[in-house]
Amino acid sequence: MVGLQGAGKSTWVQRHLAATHAVVSKDHWPRARRREARQQRVVAELLAAGRSVVVDNTHPSPEERAPLVAAARAAGLPVRAVWVDTPLEQCLARVEARNATREERARVPLVGVLSARRRFRPPSEDEGFDRVDLVRPGS
Ligand SMILES: Nc1ncnc2c1ncn2[C@@H]1O[C@H](COP(=O)(O)OP(=O)(O)O)[C@@H](O)[C@H]1O
Ligand SMILES: [Mg+2]
Repeated sequence: MVGLQGAGKSTWVQRHLAATHAVVSKDHWPRARRREARQQRVVAELLAAGRSVVVDNTHPSPEERAPLVAAARAAGLPVRAVWVDTPLEQCLARVEARNATREERARVPLVGVLSARRRFRPPSEDEGFDRVDLVRPGS
């Protein structure tokens, strides 16, 4: 998955992939140390066990996506990017609304959304994806 915080990634995953894929996200271990290494290990183990996997994080830059492309390649499997392209203003409004209902430590800072927006580069087949799908609001 690729998309800013609040874009609608987790909702899309629940609707389209959760029945068929193991869902992995760093959000599942908000306080663990070395979350990136842990996630890579979990993804590799699931792929080795023959599961289809969806990784539900923001992944705004090619650098942040590269380890997952590499994990799929290492397992000899195809890899797809699903880019949930929701306008920044809408993402900010949703994150703000969601924060109001969350405990302090579960809140997503708005500066985090802006930071992801600054790093953002659209996913491309040049990065090694076999397929890039675009999801827009209302689609
Ligand atoms: N297609 C959609 N249309 C309207 N609201 C949506 C849609 N998808 C998600 N939302 C709402 O936007 C907020 C963020 O969605 P979420 O799936 O948690 O985003 P993300 O996982 O990208 O942070 C939630 O309140 C959710 O109900
Ligand atoms: Mg989410």
